[in-house]
Amino acid sequence: MDCNIAVLAGDGIGPEIVEQAIKVLNAVGLKYKHTFKFTEALVGATAIDQVGDPFPEETFQLCMNSDAVLFGAIGDPKYDNDPKAKVRPEQGLLAMRKKLGLYANIRPVTTFPSLIHKSPLRKDLVEGADFVVVRELTGGIYFGEKGRSEDLTRAFDTCVYNKYEVERILELAFEYAAKRNKRLTVVDKANVLATSRLWRETAQEMTPSHPDIEVDYMFVDNAAMQIIQWPKKFDVMVTENMFGDILSDEASVITGSLGLLPSASVGIHTSVFEPIHGSYPQATGKDIANPLATVLSAAMLLEISLDLTQEAQAIRDAVDRSMIEGVVTEDISEGKAYKTSEVGDWLAANL
Ligand code: IPM
Ligand code: MG
Repeated sequence: MDCNIAVLAGDGIGPEIVEQAIKVLNAVGLKYKHTFKFTEALVGATAIDQVGDPFPEETFQLCMNSDAVLFGAIGDPKYDNDPKAKVRPEQGLLAMRKKLGLYANIRPVTTFPSLIHKSPLRKDLVEGADFVVVRELTGGIYFGEKGRSEDLTRAFDTCVYNKYEVERILELAFEYAAKRNKRLTVVDKANVLATSRLWRETAQEMTPSHPDIEVDYMFVDNAAMQIIQWPKKFDVMVTENMFGDILSDEASVITGSLGLLPSASVGIHTSVFEPIHGSYPQATGKDIANPLATVLSAAMLLEISLDLTQEAQAIRDAVDRSMIEGVVTEDISEGKAYKTSEVGDWLAANL
């Protein structure tokens, strides 16, 4: 198979970790006879610095013409500490989601036995937890009308959902549940919000056509509690944009392996694959960042965008072996710490 992959390495450690995922993909290509063609483009603070736009038109066009997008990280402290900055890297991220129609953010939450002691939860509560958070990504309060009164004493953000947007994400969540343990939790705030009532009503309408899926409904505040009390009871959780932003961060941290978790943003035009961690500016250029989340994102890319299931599994197996053998970076190593690039080399050689 011949595939075009756009590479948006972005800021901070982005370039270093993406480089390791490319090594691994090239090794997969060699082993399974696929050709991956990688083309780089600018995004984030790096793009603002170079061309004044965090998601330049050229980058957009490249993504549109690619089979998938491999993404590193964006964010730079010089923007975080300047609330008056006119353009910010995050705008690039939101523009990318909107323009590429990345409507579903998928974050698998899995535990790794060797890292379970890093979990803030008791081992028996979290060990074996395995669920997926499906977050709607192009609607809701993020993209509704917003503004500020002229005298600046009033501000508003509007949460809006169209039925087709709700159906689209729920359909994807049902499909995920069907491939997994057939349980779907719809998270909303239907006791207060009109948009949530639309979500719940739509889910109820769709349930009869998915008779094999067991659906339950949970208010978001309750879901926030249950994630830390009973993380093992979830299979697929689906929710709107902002609830998903918050819950997916909460869910990812309970595993103790934040640096290992990948994500996919499934789109209408193409899909984007990225680690869930940020740009880790303090580590930039030091060759110490953990590349595993990005490598596992590459596995998701193979599976979701290219339907290469076996190849994706080969990557996951190699990652598991690297952890068993202790070929890992300093953040998770118990003995000798390997460099980012050394982990990438080892994975590529041991696929
Ligand atoms: C995420 C981030 C973004 C979001 C920010 C950086 C705009 O938190 O991808 O979860 O809120 O969606
Ligand atoms: Mg977030």
